[in-house]
Amino acid sequence: MAVLLTGGTGQTGLALARLLHAANYPLLITSRRGVAPEPYKAVKFEWADHSTFENPFKADAHIDRAYLVPPSDADPYEHMKPFIDLAVSKGVKRFVFVSASQAEKDSPIYGKVHEYLADIGVEYTILRPTWFIENLGTFDVHIIRGHDEFTSVTGKGRIPLVGVEDIAKAAFDALVAERSPNTDYILIGPELWSYDEVADLLAEVLGRKITHRQITNEEQIARFKFWMSEDHAIMLNGGEQRVAAGSEEALVGHPKAIVGKAKLRDYVEANKHLWIKA
Ligand SMILES: NC(=O)c1ccc[n+]([C@@H]2O[C@H](COP(=O)([O-])OP(=O)(O)OC[C@H]3O[C@@H](n4cnc5c(N)ncnc54)[C@H](OP(=O)(O)O)[C@@H]3O)[C@@H](O)[C@H]2O)c1
Repeated sequence: MAVLLTGGTGQTGLALARLLHAANYPLLITSRRGVAPEPYKAVKFEWADHSTFENPFKADAHIDRAYLVPPSDADPYEHMKPFIDLAVSKGVKRFVFVSASQAEKDSPIYGKVHEYLADIGVEYTILRPTWFIENLGTFDVHIIRGHDEFTSVTGKGRIPLVGVEDIAKAAFDALVAERSPNTDYILIGPELWSYDEVADLLAEVLGRKITHRQITNEEQIARFKFWMSEDHAIMLNGGEQRVAAGSEEALVGHPKAIVGKAKLRDYVEANKHLWIKA
């Protein structure tokens, strides 16, 4: 047995690699540069370049499980379907796909991959996390450090913010379980936060005023487009609009919810250095 981690150099991927490594499961990471932190092995892989899809299987003939992190700069289904088909032909029997809380099976973008995995008779788990705690230290880190603010269109909506380690744990469990769950799970954290409340917590811990600024949908889409394709940016902005209408608050108590342990205050206190001005 060996586990292939696409997106293995990312936040959830690396946390998953640590869990697999600690439990002595062989693993291989994909990355556009073909490099991963020690002690992991990596191969070059680019979702938009299908000629790289064979690389993992040339490097390790024992790969039989795969963790799938979709591309954010292209249509996931267009690239993931051919990769899933190839992986199945190479002996991969189990897939764990990171989707998003609001992406129902058969919805556009992530939902099409969910539907495909559910329909082709492989072992599968779809992880549908809500917004990550760690976004404050990644997507929002520069604007908080430089401008003492962060932006959204989420209004007063509250989110059960989830931690990356908890997503990795859910992926680990699904990958190594004797029986594959063959279903989707909603991944949430233990506490509800509005972004105004998050700003107040940051201000308290950092000792300076931090503001959560409401911006227009157009402004937020333009901001997201620095990191991702226009389709993804529109999808993410739509997700934030639904937060304002209560979508994430409604996930608390969801029958398919896995509730993680990570808490926002612990993360902010442990990572204070990220937002200290130079
Ligand atoms: N952040 C949130 O609040 C949130 C909420 C719900 C769902 N999600 C979803 O959660 C998933 C996992 O996120 P994450 O934070 O673990 O990811 P991440 O830290 O953003 O890392 C993305 C990974 O994908 C790889 N990658 C990016 N573009 C690629 C491409 N074109 N071809 C091949 N590999 C590529 C990167 O590897 P290299 O750079 O080494 O190539 C990296 O390892 C994402 O799909 C995201 O949409 C996020």
